[in-house]
Amino acid sequence: MLANLFEFRNNPSLPPSARMPDFLQRRMDEFYVDRMQGLWGGKHIMHGVQPSNSAIQLMSNDYLSLVNHPQILQAQIAALQNASNEVVMSGVFMHGENPVSAFEQRMATFCGYQAGILSQSGYAANVGLIQALAEKNVPVYIDMHAHASLWEGVMSAGATPHAFRHNDPEHLDRQMRQYGQGVLCVDSVYSTLGSIAPLEDLVDVAEKYDSLIIVDESHSLGTHGVHGEGLVRQLGLHERVHFVTASLAKAFAARAGIVLCSERFKEYFRCTARPAIFSSSLLNHEVAALDKTLDIIQADDWRRDKLFHNARFLRQQLSDLGYNVRCSQSQIIPIEAGVEQDTLVLREKMEEQGVFGAVFCAPATPKKRSLVRLSVNAALTVPQMLEIVRVMGVIRDDVGMWRWPSTVKGGAQAPARAVLANW
Ligand SMILES: Cc1ncc(COP(=O)(O)O)c(C=O)c1O
Repeated sequence: MLANLFEFRNNPSLPPSARMPDFLQRRMDEFYVDRMQGLWGGKHIMHGVQPSNSAIQLMSNDYLSLVNHPQILQAQIAALQNASNEVVMSGVFMHGENPVSAFEQRMATFCGYQAGILSQSGYAANVGLIQALAEKNVPVYIDMHAHASLWEGVMSAGATPHAFRHNDPEHLDRQMRQYGQGVLCVDSVYSTLGSIAPLEDLVDVAEKYDSLIIVDESHSLGTHGVHGEGLVRQLGLHERVHFVTASLAKAFAARAGIVLCSERFKEYFRCTARPAIFSSSLLNHEVAALDKTLDIIQADDWRRDKLFHNARFLRQQLSDLGYNVRCSQSQIIPIEAGVEQDTLVLREKMEEQGVFGAVFCAPATPKKRSLVRLSVNAALTVPQMLEIVRVMGVIRDDVGMWRWPSTVKGGAQAPARAVLANW
């Protein structure tokens, strides 16, 4: 199947609609020929074998292990069965009492905000929000590892991005001093590194320059905070951070996003942000699932406790094996092999042993810093975690871990042969 993609140009059986003009052909060749055939040796860096039922899967962002929760399924079924007058339309038209507004208000109260706005995805929430906030020449200060959807928002708003070094409030301060009042965009927990933003310090800097603050809580809503209300609320910053956004495709295990904001901003957003105007809103059964999920997230503290315990255990064990996972402070643990060829080998060796992570490479990471991301979840058992540690120990020589730039940077040294033999 892959060969067809590489030998595209010489394939006379393709219909005219599959032929592309040179300007696109060139780009597609770069992908199929240079990258996939050349760099990846004809394989796909992200797609290996399908995990078997007994495989340990660490690809999903369902951190609290809520997919297929019977109460959530039941809530959706009931909503579908009772869907008498469902109206399919864009958020801008919604008014009066309806399941979407009721859930938005619940989420806002949960996180300490006046209002919430549901959107189709975390991506749409971020793009729409920045479109509504910034315009040409407005400086947007954005952590260099902030999620792509925040960058996309800056570009689509035509605003001016000023990247600052990852989690570096002093660099942010220097940038703000130079370019003045604007918008600060950060993630609370970073999706490729698992690092946590120093939110209090960043907020102090942004306030000094009277700037707006957006915190993307995609990877902390549901998982952090006493009952899952996120880091902003947990740190008592909800009255200082103007906007919280989140993908609800992580701990909420659904397909949606949300913006938390002030009541006055909400209506302005709905009539300004393009995703709210030109793309339809969620359906009632999707909202019913989210509503039930919120019940469970608030009630099941044990899921968060278990997630934290599992994540701490794996970070420590992987670090003891020599993997440099120091940037991770959360349930996201990156195993950074570096160049894409090495990441492909890493994924294959892990999969051979029944452990599956998610490959992140350019454009999600810098070109030579590709990695396999392990997303820890609350359902992992002790035997499964021990198996992950065993596998990562067994493969570390075969995948060349000791020579990876991340390992060298971390200062880990290969142990003597006798110790290695124990694995
Ligand atoms: C930090 C962050 N923000 C936003 C998004 C986009 O979320 P969604 O998948 O709901 O569009 C993601 C998803 O990868 C994310 O990690």
